[in-house]
Amino acid sequence: MKTLLVTGGAGFIGTNFVRLTLDKYPQYKVVVVDKLTYAANRDSLPEGIDFVEGDICDAELMDQLIRDCDIVVHFAAESHNDNSLANPRPFLDTNVIGTYTILEAVRRHHKRLHHISTDEVFGDLELDDPNRFTETTAYNPSSPYSSTKAASDHLVRAWIRSFGIQATISNCSNNYGPYQHIEKFIPRQITNILSGLPAKLYGTGEQVRDWIHVDDHNTAVHLILEKGTIGDTYIIGADNDHINNKQVIEMICEMMGGTFEHVADRPGHDMRYAMDSTKLRTKLGWKPQYTDSMREGLAQTIAWYRDNENWWRDQKDAIEKAYAARGH
Ligand code: NAD
Ligand code: TYD
Repeated sequence: MKTLLVTGGAGFIGTNFVRLTLDKYPQYKVVVVDKLTYAANRDSLPEGIDFVEGDICDAELMDQLIRDCDIVVHFAAESHNDNSLANPRPFLDTNVIGTYTILEAVRRHHKRLHHISTDEVFGDLELDDPNRFTETTAYNPSSPYSSTKAASDHLVRAWIRSFGIQATISNCSNNYGPYQHIEKFIPRQITNILSGLPAKLYGTGEQVRDWIHVDDHNTAVHLILEKGTIGDTYIIGADNDHINNKQVIEMICEMMGGTFEHVADRPGHDMRYAMDSTKLRTKLGWKPQYTDSMREGLAQTIAWYRDNENWWRDQKDAIEKAYAARGH
């Protein structure tokens, strides 16, 4: 049995990855390392794993954990753009120094690494630009979040080239699904409506995110672990780049019987992300399970937040107060 070390496994995508792994990939023993920042929830993680509370910037800890595992899947990051505009420093520490710390331990112990990244490293496209991001699109990040993720991707590539580490990278579009922190767009709107509040749309809402269900992202990660070419990068996206923020909010309001209002826009707001996942589909045979322009995935996600109010309720007031203080 191989040991998978999952960094950031108590966050949104990591938790879903761990659950999927226990369910569908029994060949792995799972160890999670997570600092349990505000974005984490220890209770999201299932039984049957080893959990270590710790910081990926802690070189001694990461050396031990990586020595004792076979494969590292690196999700841990500071991940919210709005927070990165308010206070960039933790993004530099975790996303850059944390990734460097992991790379050095992977290099010392000759372990396999998969680095999880985002489409935001490519910057944005104009609304009328028919192009999509590919594995060779030049990096052009806009925010402290996306620039630190871009830096981490560059580090991984440099360690592959200079030191020959056994690593792959994936850049995925915006995820949605169960266990996502309620500061993020889709769960914020769902929990607003469940709280009797209007959903909140930044600016005009014409921005486009190429939404993907978290399980589709994570099946792609498993496929890359099994069949990916060492040193390669894979774009992951589910072809939802025809749906803008306003249409997403309208779908949620229609499904839940809620209303929405426009609020102040985000400074430097990226307009459009669009992913070309041809390489992943043709070379590794991946395809998403959620293919009906988000309707099935949104219905499942709404049902999850409705059924799991105890998971999010305690945080709701504080998060809305923080947004109100920023004019959102
Ligand atoms: P998240 O914020 O929900 O979770 C991040 C987790 O990392 C949290 O559990 C947090 O406690 C942990 N963490 C933060 N700093 C740490 C540190 N120094 N040491 C150890 N653990 C630490 O984020 P997410 O949405 O699950 O994103 C996971 C990864 O996927 C990130 O690398 C992100 O850039 C990438 N990604 C996210 C999306 C998305 O739409 N959410 C899309 C593409 C890529
Ligand atoms: P978000 O979930 O923060 O992800 P990202 O910034 O990584 O794309 O936001 C997704 C989109 O939704 C983005 O265009 C900003 C917009 N947005 C709103 O319109 N209202 C909100 O309350 C939030 C949090 C985001």
